[in-house]
Amino acid sequence: MPVLGIETSCDETAVALYDRRRGLLAAALHSQIALHRQYGGVVPELASRDHVRKLLPLVARMLDEAGIRGAQLDGIAYTHGPGLVGALLVGASLAHALAAVWGVPVLGVHHMEGHLLAPMLEDDPPQPPFVALLVSGGHTQLVAVAALGRYRLLGESLDDAAGEAFDKAAKMLGLAYPGGPAIAKLAERGDRTRMRFPRPMIDRPGLDFSFSGLKTFTLNTIADCRTQSADGALSERDRADIAAAFEEAAVATLVIKCRRALEQTGMRRLVLAGGVAANRRLRHLMAAMVAEQGAELFYPRPEFCTDNGAMIAYAGALRLHQGERSTGIDIQPRPSLEALPPIDLAG
Ligand code: KG4
Ligand code: ZN
Repeated sequence: MPVLGIETSCDETAVALYDRRRGLLAAALHSQIALHRQYGGVVPELASRDHVRKLLPLVARMLDEAGIRGAQLDGIAYTHGPGLVGALLVGASLAHALAAVWGVPVLGVHHMEGHLLAPMLEDDPPQPPFVALLVSGGHTQLVAVAALGRYRLLGESLDDAAGEAFDKAAKMLGLAYPGGPAIAKLAERGDRTRMRFPRPMIDRPGLDFSFSGLKTFTLNTIADCRTQSADGALSERDRADIAAAFEEAAVATLVIKCRRALEQTGMRRLVLAGGVAANRRLRHLMAAMVAEQGAELFYPRPEFCTDNGAMIAYAGALRLHQGERSTGIDIQPRPSLEALPPIDLAG
């Protein structure tokens, strides 16, 4: 029988049913994008309240459509962090309440492990060992995956996450939240060669990232273009060219660090995961680099790159199967990937 996955760490209310033998059986998602758009970003209090409104009906409808009763489930998995505490509490509370009512086990799952394992839901899943680049709105991490559940952090962002940098640059250009897809769309019309933005931290050894300098450079470039324009406003051409230059620099930085991580670890497989992994330019340039290295590239379909219930149901199904349990509401705003127990697929 399947495991119910519940994801409420940020601005998506997402649920799914994953069965270890039959695969993904159902998934449903309610996006809060329209709710937060007028504020230019996620408002935590509004996010929590909307999860309260949407989560239970979403679970009930999905189970109903799948013809599964709650008491038949193998368990319930929910995101326990990282994320917005109030939003996480909504998913955790409902998961524990339903588990008590239905008499099934329940487990809090690490959101970034969910992202990292999302490519395992595809037809051609990556076999460890591999390097994983986790690029979301809140995190930018390079992880060496020796086996499922055995993670070593190779590097991470010292300031803004990659997705956050996209979101902030988008705001500067007057684009709507979420900024990543908006920048990518505008960049398609831009000239990628007109301006060259800095590739942060590529001259320094190591695998950490920094995106705040790129943000400042973007702000200064916008100011320069405004000064040079007759009416003090950004032309459509300038906006598209800035979006393109920003995307080129952000993506090039990620590609360079991933190449370094493959070289340093000697691993031959690279996995992209998290919302920014939906970026087409990133996939394209990463594929070229990986081919040059004689390595292989894996990434989930776009809807499994951004937050979703399937990745939580999947990670939860593996861990519940090996007996892991959460005894009480278990919220961890900053959990460690490296401290997780290994996953035994043979069991
Ligand atoms: O993983 P995710 O859905 O949520 C977090 O866990 O943070 O990632 C959301 C982030 C946002 O910053 C969004 O702008 C970015 O992923 N994103 C993209 C694209 N689609 C989503 N960034 C660049 N290009 C995209 N196509
Ligand atoms: Zn996420």
